[in-house]
Amino acid sequence: MSQHGPELRNDLLLRALCSQPTPRTPLWMMRQAGRYLPEYRATRARAGSFLNLCMNPELACEVTLQPLARFRLDAAILFSDILTIPHAMNLGLEFEAGEGPTLARPVRTAADVRNLPVPHPETELKYVLDAVSLIRRELAGSVPLIGFAGSPWTVATYCVEGGGSKTFARIKSMLYGEPELLHLLLAKLTRATIDYLSAQVEAGAQALMVFDTWGGALTPSAYREFSLRYLSEIAAGVRREAGGRRVPLVLFTKGAGPLLSELARAGGDAVGVDWTTDLGDARRMAGPGIAVQGNLDPSVLYAPPAAIRAEVERVLASFGHGHGHVFNLGHGIHPDVPPEHALAMVEAVHELSPRYHD
Ligand code: CP3
Repeated sequence: MSQHGPELRNDLLLRALCSQPTPRTPLWMMRQAGRYLPEYRATRARAGSFLNLCMNPELACEVTLQPLARFRLDAAILFSDILTIPHAMNLGLEFEAGEGPTLARPVRTAADVRNLPVPHPETELKYVLDAVSLIRRELAGSVPLIGFAGSPWTVATYCVEGGGSKTFARIKSMLYGEPELLHLLLAKLTRATIDYLSAQVEAGAQALMVFDTWGGALTPSAYREFSLRYLSEIAAGVRREAGGRRVPLVLFTKGAGPLLSELARAGGDAVGVDWTTDLGDARRMAGPGIAVQGNLDPSVLYAPPAAIRAEVERVLASFGHGHGHVFNLGHGIHPDVPPEHALAMVEAVHELSPRYHD
């Protein structure tokens, strides 16, 4: 028994993320606990809102486990959101139904940035850590638990824009007009993220992922200066070991494209890959010793099972023979996908992937 319960029975994800051999390709799905599942919608209705669901450890644990009851997945991912940090910074987070997140008190001026508190995970984010320990207990060693956070750049886009954005007008004005101010904000978010992820590991997270959903909106040089640099700081600062075992770290920049080779050198164990990069190219850009996670186009799951199976085969074949691949979608599963189509993908990976391993 480790501090958080029995030893892991299925450690394929941890091995693959550390580029070690596995008998088949492990898999999980980004946003695997979500609106495409009727049982998720039922629990969210009981919680009253998405934020209540995130902040209630019992309900967060319940929805975390729902996709594992349906599908043969090799990991659980903490049910939470990347905006828990701005919420803890008291920026007034709300999720209006069908609207996406908004922040009532966005960060716009030098005074706003200076006054921004760096949250203490053990107090302001205790509900997340409680969910992590509860999920670990309920998983009872079946599969590993992934903890996560947003990248400083991606979280900053929400903090400055006050919600989602298409043009990133406000944060890009800051980036080009007041770069030092943006660096101050990113440094605070980086500090908060390192503390938050390390606390998740302390509470029982066995792998970590950083979501840089909006890094692909930057020019290559701005990406290096305003996103990649802070991803490297996180990789260097975060806790990477627990109970005598490595806690692998996945860095995911959506739309990284050719910059994937630089992301792979940022200090993570693995890189996440979206569907716009061929997985064989991603493998070459990552180089030996850095695993890749991805990259089925989530829209493939709109197609019938036979087409899904063919696309799964295409992804496995583009990675090719050998270890260091974790199968996933290239981004989150769409809310209007039939669960049986997700099942077809999962079963196809189980059936088709062993032949790519010795
Ligand atoms: O993968 C999982 O199953 C874990 C859960 C998870 C959620 N958000 C739950 C969620 C994870 C890993 C996230 C990360 C997240 N949140 C990201 C990065 C990953 C990505 O998808 O790019 C971002 C950008 C956010 C911010 C966010 N949260 C947005 C823009 C939205 C609204 C859009 C949407 O999909 O509804 C959310 C809400 C959200 N986060 C939902 C879920 C299940 C939907 C809320 C609901 O209506 O129930």
